[in-house]
Amino acid sequence: MENFNFGVGVNVLFGKDQVENLPSLLAPYGKKVLFCYGGGSVKKMGLYDKVKGLLSDYEVYELSGIAPNPKIDSVREGVRLCREHGIESILPVGGGSVIDCAKAIAAAVYYDGDPWEMISLQKPIEKALPIVTILTLAATGSEADNGAVISNPETNEKLGLGALVLMPKASIMDPTYTFTVPAQQTAAGCADIMSHLMEQYFVPSSSYMGDLLVEAVMKTIIKYAPVAVKEPDNYEARAQIMWGSSIGDNATLCNGNMLAVFGVHGMEHELSAYYDLTHGVGLAILTSAWMKYVLQKAPQTVVPRFAHFAKAVWGLEGERDLVLAKKAIEETESFFKGLNIPMTLTEVGIDDSKFTEMAEHAGRTGMLEYAWIPLNAEDIVSIFKLCI
Ligand code: NZQ
Ligand code: ZN
Repeated sequence: MENFNFGVGVNVLFGKDQVENLPSLLAPYGKKVLFCYGGGSVKKMGLYDKVKGLLSDYEVYELSGIAPNPKIDSVREGVRLCREHGIESILPVGGGSVIDCAKAIAAAVYYDGDPWEMISLQKPIEKALPIVTILTLAATGSEADNGAVISNPETNEKLGLGALVLMPKASIMDPTYTFTVPAQQTAAGCADIMSHLMEQYFVPSSSYMGDLLVEAVMKTIIKYAPVAVKEPDNYEARAQIMWGSSIGDNATLCNGNMLAVFGVHGMEHELSAYYDLTHGVGLAILTSAWMKYVLQKAPQTVVPRFAHFAKAVWGLEGERDLVLAKKAIEETESFFKGLNIPMTLTEVGIDDSKFTEMAEHAGRTGMLEYAWIPLNAEDIVSIFKLCI
């Protein structure tokens, strides 16, 4: 097992009606709150009114219209509101995009310059406004991690930021809020969760316990994703997926592993930067292409690990490792297909015209030379081509 430092500071309130605790969660941070949300789902499900009612004693300012793949302009607007009104805490209510935008605002309020400069130059973040989240979509794990990803459509860039101070102080996770997530978005969210798990599992070295923990959460997502897609108000399915997502991307499961750069994420962020593609859809398309490619490129490393994945996660056995590895790829692909996720770039309207540009960019910003199987721009173009 590798050395690690571990401090997940988020206070999780999981389950039905936990929102009633919202006023007391925000109380330590003052009365002026920035309530952030997206394009309207919180209003449709009644959560907007609920939050406003619960915060009747607070001075609530609003930042609405935060888009999927949140854009830098929303961050700028949030910073402006915080400075103008002396806002003391931020309350994102939504999915990963709303929470990520809130994190970037929380940090950029203290940055003397444009927020995009802070993100693109990777300025150290030592201070941020406190954040309390209400999660409405299980996918990214942003409610329980200290990272965020922001897009700049002017430069076709989607870049990450991260700092200990960006960990939410508290997150309310009520699975009933995800009942209204459409099937397609539910599927994309589950693909994202699976991808986070796979990125922590296909690594230079892992521990016995780390493997078992990641495998348990993978099997949970494989079991419950199809249920949630078919039965949107199945509480147990939504709850298992929500908790799996939250512990799936903040090192809880993989402490002690020697991690590498999240390679499939590095490639996907280019697709969503250039084409505003839903993150989980891009990941599902890329994952099986990446698996096929690395199997050919580095069989000595990949075959035994994929064979282990085949046995431990997909329950396959009795074959040679190479056969098992190939079957694991087929199982992974048919899991995503079974959730009705489009499985080619062509289906989502992306052609090969930007492959070279995106590959060079992914290599640079995603640092894919440090992935489990290092990838250069040529490799990345080949993987994109497998997705057509
Ligand atoms: O905007 P509204 O109207 O709220 O609709 C949203 C949005 O259209 C809708 N939605 C959310 N909750 C809903 C709902 N619709 C009905 N009922 C509900 N309860 O879902 C759509 C997508 O929302 P979004 O927040 O964009 O999805 P997700 O949670 O998948 O977040 C994706 C973003 O997070 C980043 C991604 O790159 C992407 O930008 N990531 C963040 C990470 C992190 N902070 O750790 C890690 C991830 O790997 C990822 O990169
Ligand atoms: Zn992701």
